[in-house]
Amino acid sequence: MRPALSDYQHVASGKVRELYRIDNEHLLLVATDRISAFDYVLASTIPDKGRILTAMSVFFFHLVEAPNHVAGPPDDPRIPDEVLGRALVVRKLQMLPVECVARGYLTGSGLLDYQRTGEICGIPLPAGLVEASRFPTPLFTPATKAELGQHDENIPLARVIEMVGAVRANQLRDLTLQTYVQGAHHALTKGIIIADTKFEFGVDADGNLVLADEIFTPDSSRYWPANEYQPGVVQTSFDKQFVRNWLTSPESGWNRTGAQPPPPLPDHIIEATRSRYIEAYEKISGQSFEDWIGPGA
Ligand SMILES: Nc1ncnc2c1ncn2[C@@H]1O[C@H](COP(=O)(O)OP(=O)(O)OP(=O)(O)O)[C@@H](O)[C@H]1O
Ligand SMILES: [Mg+2]
Repeated sequence: MRPALSDYQHVASGKVRELYRIDNEHLLLVATDRISAFDYVLASTIPDKGRILTAMSVFFFHLVEAPNHVAGPPDDPRIPDEVLGRALVVRKLQMLPVECVARGYLTGSGLLDYQRTGEICGIPLPAGLVEASRFPTPLFTPATKAELGQHDENIPLARVIEMVGAVRANQLRDLTLQTYVQGAHHALTKGIIIADTKFEFGVDADGNLVLADEIFTPDSSRYWPANEYQPGVVQTSFDKQFVRNWLTSPESGWNRTGAQPPPPLPDHIIEATRSRYIEAYEKISGQSFEDWIGPGA
């Protein structure tokens, strides 16, 4: 019989994930159906999102070469039935306090930094780049993790060196760029541009750098449909675009600059978002989401 979730001690809550202690070396990493937008965790959940994100991360952990934290299959007997399909047994790591971002294209906070300074994270860039310009080679643009409700802060490599030392900082950069190139290359063959992505790394008991948390999900990455790619304009993103568009439309009645949290999402926005996440998973993995494990399997 599988254990119950209540058999494990709850150790931490993230915006989307819950962490439980399995034993001294292992954690249960549970993805919920929560969704965040504009740095808020929304009141609405997206049905199946936790299972979709878990399926995607598992797919990409297999695809890329970097060592990762996964310590058992998605149907591992240590996983409680109630979270089957959205939980993984992972190695407990000493997490490094650096958000390891790789960017293949100019957008978001990178574009804002570039417009102000001509640089991103201290990396000088050629003049004349525009929204969604593709970089000749991908950039490592680390950030510090912000408190809930705040944006992450982009930092130069020199700051990462101060935080974790030169050897570790260079390893983080190299592994981030290598992993981004491997994942983005695969996605592009399936018609999806992964414009940028964020990794979190931890260190294992032997001092090795290990890829942790989630990888290449639409929550941690910008997904753009490759056939619509056009530099100079804001690209339609594959995932949260319905949510962001609705929240910023008059229909939602929400004032983004005010103090109020966003309102609950209407059913049609929830359903459209769920379909987009599933579509992205199926396109990228070549698998049907119906075949992914769930409770009662
Ligand atoms: N193998 C691991 N060992 C220890 N901690 C881990 C491991 N994998 C992930 N974590 C931690 O578990 C938490 C996962 O929570 P979640 O993904 O909701 O992230 P968050 O940090 O709140 O937000 P976001 O990912 O959006 O920045 C994070 O704090 C992450 O650092
Ligand atoms: Mg996370």
